[in-house]
Amino acid sequence: MAFENNTNIKLIKLSHISQSLSLSTLWKSLAISGALLFLLHTFAFNHPHKMITHKLFAPLDLSFSSSAISASSPLQTEKEPPTNISHLMFVIVGSTRTWRYRRGYIEPWWRPNITKGHVFLERPPGRDLLPWPQQSPPFSVNKDSFVTINKFKTQIRLFQSLHESFMKASNDTRWFVIADDDTLFLLDNLVEALGRYDHKKHYYIGMNSENIWSNAIFAFDMGYGGGGYALSYPTVETLLNKMEECIRRYLGVYSDLLSFRCLADLGIDLTMEKGIHQIDLHGDISGLLSAHPQSPLISLHHFDVIDPIFPAMNRQESVNHLMKTAKTDQSRVLQQTICYQRGNNWSVSVSWGYSVHIYQSIFPRNHLKRPLETFLPWNHVRIPLYTFNTRFVTKDPCEMPRQFFFDSVVEDKNQSSVTTMYKMKTASSLPPCLLNGNHSARNISQVRVIATTMHKMGAGIECCDVQNVNSTEILEVKIRACHKDEVLA
Ligand SMILES: *[C@@H]1O[C@H](CO)[C@@H](O)[C@H](O)[C@H]1NC(C)=O
Ligand SMILES: *[C@@H]1O[C@H](CO)[C@@H](O)[C@H](O)[C@H]1NC(C)=O
Ligand SMILES: *[C@@H]1O[C@H](CO)[C@@H](O)[C@H](O)[C@H]1NC(C)=O
Ligand SMILES: *[C@@H]1O[C@H](CO)[C@@H](O)[C@H](O)[C@H]1NC(C)=O
Ligand SMILES: *[C@@H]1O[C@H](CO)[C@@H](O)[C@H](O)[C@H]1NC(C)=O
Ligand SMILES: *[C@@H]1O[C@H](CO)[C@@H](O)[C@H](O)[C@H]1NC(C)=O
Ligand SMILES: *[C@@H]1O[C@H](CO)[C@@H](O)[C@H](O)[C@H]1NC(C)=O
Ligand SMILES: *[C@@H]1O[C@H](CO)[C@@H](O)[C@H](O)[C@H]1NC(C)=O
Repeated sequence: MAFENNTNIKLIKLSHISQSLSLSTLWKSLAISGALLFLLHTFAFNHPHKMITHKLFAPLDLSFSSSAISASSPLQTEKEPPTNISHLMFVIVGSTRTWRYRRGYIEPWWRPNITKGHVFLERPPGRDLLPWPQQSPPFSVNKDSFVTINKFKTQIRLFQSLHESFMKASNDTRWFVIADDDTLFLLDNLVEALGRYDHKKHYYIGMNSENIWSNAIFAFDMGYGGGGYALSYPTVETLLNKMEECIRRYLGVYSDLLSFRCLADLGIDLTMEKGIHQIDLHGDISGLLSAHPQSPLISLHHFDVIDPIFPAMNRQESVNHLMKTAKTDQSRVLQQTICYQRGNNWSVSVSWGYSVHIYQSIFPRNHLKRPLETFLPWNHVRIPLYTFNTRFVTKDPCEMPRQFFFDSVVEDKNQSSVTTMYKMKTASSLPPCLLNGNHSARNISQVRVIATTMHKMGAGIECCDVQNVNSTEILEVKIRACHKDEVLA
């Protein structure tokens, strides 16, 4: 249901704004008097969402920063509870035209009555969209009389939605997460990632595009809207204060470019998180998902323009399928683990919860961590195409893997292990690699991956051991901690 107009919250918010307004006027008038400002800073603005000394004012800040920090910050940070899902407010800019089929990419991760935020629509939903599903985020219809600019309403709708979200946010909102209506989030990973940053500072967290072309024409250091980006509370406060003049300055550009430019002019630059994916790609992205960077998966996007990510499934089924492992050990999803079966000269590369590749050769990790270029660029222009290195797809049985895709997951709470099964992609017949001893992996029909510990985020890569079970049909991979100085080659 659409949210109610809550006047109490609005009053709280107005006090935030007036506080920061008065502070910013103070900045101007008292800029000369660093000492007085310091007094004000320490005594008057001891508020959870106070306006933080801004990067724009960095030279001023230097004069008193060390004493101010040592005086107030250690105590505050120790006491503060860690960031959890309640501290996030989602701002999903959707439309009544697309919601019918896009909701299938939002509902798998949205937790009704737990996740906070709204999907913003340009007009009230018609009868075809009602009754509004319980599983969907509540909707809100953008008000028409937002800014005095009439053109480019679509681009401005983001700021309008952000403004409305800010007014409705509860006082413990730390982050505003902006996304499209076809952005799939892994919520626990997102929360964990944001928890690593100080929400009281000005943060803008996102990721650029996979395409050099997109980055070249927009910006390499812009947070692309489809992958989603997060703004800390003070960032939103600053941005909204300066919103109207910035919209006028950059009228007519995409909303994420508008955010990037406005934030850049306010001195707030992008902090990149490698797990956020815009997916400006076409075709089969399995190569990329099978060699994900060593960083928890936070988001995926553009499911409507890429092939279904699992073979023999439609787009919706494959999204739901991926989310099955996200319910067990989310931070491990897509994490790449490599091991070798030396007797057969095989390399095994696991992308947990997604795929297993068996190569009939020994390849070092630095080679296997490059994605196979199974996909096509967003826009075919001059090389280089991507912001990462790739390997070309060939027909060479020594270079190409036999591919297995995630099939099922069993969580054994008793033994605290999670077992994932991967089945061979049909119609993939790869001859043996003669150069490496003619050891065919043809007979392997299933790979079983056993993880006995929960994945620890930021603890580095894990290693594994591999063995055949049941004569030759099942390959079993056991994930374990790497030995000291273990070499993967
Ligand atoms: C999140 O943390 C706050 C404390 O800041 C707590 O009140 C709230 O219950 C927590 N929410 C969840 C879902 O754990
Ligand atoms: C969410 O809360 C409302 C009202 O408290 C309740 O009617 C509804 O069943 C809840 N939805 C879910 C999915 O729990
Ligand atoms: C938020 O507001 C509630 C009451 O409205 C208050 O008890 C709580 O301390 C406030 N929290 C913060 C972080 O300001
Ligand atoms: C694990 O489960 C088995 C039955 O499935 C039971 O016999 C055993 O006692 C359990 N172990 C623990 C440590 O709970
Ligand atoms: C593995 O491959 C190498 C060549 O790369 C070969 O010399 C060696 O005999 C092979 N080992 C086995 C067990 O086939
Ligand atoms: C490879 O092995 C198969 C049986 O495992 C055998 O029939 C074939 O002759 C071998 N090829 C070579 C070139 O050794
Ligand atoms: C594959 O399985 C067949 C029987 O199903 C067996 O004869 C053959 O030796 C196996 N090949 C390898 C490479 O293990
Ligand atoms: C081996 O295969 C048989 C039949 O396919 C099955 O019943 C058995 O559980 C398998 N053993 C293992 C260890 O997977």
